[in-house]
Amino acid sequence: MVKLVVGNWKMNGCLNDISFMQTIAETADTLNNQLKTVICVPSVFIHHFSNHIKTHHAIFEIGGQNCHHLKTGAYTGEVSADMLKDVGAHYVIVGHSERRTDCYESDIIVHDKANTAFDADLIPIICVGETHEQYIQGISKKIIVEQIKHSVPHTVKKFAIGYEPIWAIGTGLIPQFDEIAAIHLTIYETLKGLLGTETTNKVDILYGGSVKPSNACDIANIDYVNGALVGGASLNASDFTQIMTAFAH
Ligand code: PGA
Repeated sequence: MVKLVVGNWKMNGCLNDISFMQTIAETADTLNNQLKTVICVPSVFIHHFSNHIKTHHAIFEIGGQNCHHLKTGAYTGEVSADMLKDVGAHYVIVGHSERRTDCYESDIIVHDKANTAFDADLIPIICVGETHEQYIQGISKKIIVEQIKHSVPHTVKKFAIGYEPIWAIGTGLIPQFDEIAAIHLTIYETLKGLLGTETTNKVDILYGGSVKPSNACDIANIDYVNGALVGGASLNASDFTQIMTAFAH
């Protein structure tokens, strides 16, 4: 399966980052269809960047970082999945831990966001992850299974999962490689139980949390890891292209 590397710019970037996008597009081209790349930018930049990279369709696409769980309505300041699609997004992250924590998003809301995104013809990247306390208690698997069961809509046929231990995000810490493999296998088995083998085999299960050029090759080689969700290192073209290259081999 061709792997998927997703950059999450969070609240960073500007219109001038077009040369950055150019570098990513050129790298994606040299990788000869051995990798899919997505950069999730703040929604105000989606149109600008997606227009710029149009010619790289399917190997390099632009995504959003969030959408509302309803289609339209009186929700001042919100952005809908249809709007993201309209301006050129192909993917959208839903349920990132920063939104689950800072914006009090529950599994139900994440579930509805994923549904709305899929209806809008976007591929939702549904994020799950345990806290450090839960990790220390040894209950990561149980937490992740619950999040998957409640956040993944059963009707959605095409989506990705981002497994991001909350304590690994932006900290430089990552779980042991065998722990990552065990959680990814659990995610795979849980999805298979919920959605069947055919749908599950098309799901990219991404690892996220302190993915860097220095650990990308090792992470790319872990069983059941189909790609990466990259925050900080997606803001630096050299770091990000090294991660892309690691996941393309
Ligand atoms: P990080 O962030 O790569 O900076 O740890 C990952 C994420 O939040 O998606």
